[in-house]
Amino acid sequence: MELVSERRALVVGNWKMNLDFVEAVHLTQQIGVLLRHNPVAHVDVALAPPFVDLRSVSSVVDSERIPVSLCAQHVNANEAGPHTGEISLSMLTRVGVTTFIVGHSERRTHYAMDDDTVARTLTHVVRAGQRGLLCVGEDLVVREASEYESFVATQLESALRPLSVAQRELVTVAYEPIWAIGTGRSATSEEVNLATAHLRRVLASLEMPTTRVLYGGSVNADNASELIHQGIDGFLVGGASLKAESFLAIIHAVDGCYAELR
Ligand code: PGA
Repeated sequence: MELVSERRALVVGNWKMNLDFVEAVHLTQQIGVLLRHNPVAHVDVALAPPFVDLRSVSSVVDSERIPVSLCAQHVNANEAGPHTGEISLSMLTRVGVTTFIVGHSERRTHYAMDDDTVARTLTHVVRAGQRGLLCVGEDLVVREASEYESFVATQLESALRPLSVAQRELVTVAYEPIWAIGTGRSATSEEVNLATAHLRRVLASLEMPTTRVLYGGSVNADNASELIHQGIDGFLVGGASLKAESFLAIIHAVDGCYAELR
């Protein structure tokens, strides 16, 4: 089994519906400059810009050799056809996307993405040999009813059981409690610690003992150092990824923690 000290962390910046392509290029260049001046050794970095920014961001990443990979915020479960407003996996891989966020809570809540659609989408991604970043997490009602463990277990099992064990290796999981997303109220260290341990138990029962588990929900430059010590493998960052300085501070906090583990 992989030793903890051999693991690499992952930090993903989810820009959501922010930044037009000019702003996106600018932020990507700033991230590139900061990473060049202060490189990281133990962290993989990925950016998830809006779809219309991807081509421009991809060109900048290639031409300036910025060490980040590209992530899509969403992808349709079908490959082509009458799906107005949606986008396909092959269109996204063509512009350089290698990781696909599947089942972000904003898609689940506002765009009716149910567990079945999440499962079909994740299956579609890994069947194509691409990486999936599966998001799970409960809302405040479920949390206050002390039902989050079974809720999250159901989300994980319904998305992951249809996959073969080999396909499951292409999946990273992000635990993102809805009550912590964009609210400025991150989960506490203890809450992250307990939830991560629970997710790892469920993943082990799915023959996924080494899957990377990220945390997301109001992660910022101030709380990243403490949260990264709670048994997680990195972060899915929303608001704080929209500024190069705060995003880099989070990346460096993670890198510092992993350097200590060596
Ligand atoms: P936030 O978003 O960091 O702004 O809370 C996280 C996410 O939705 O991935």
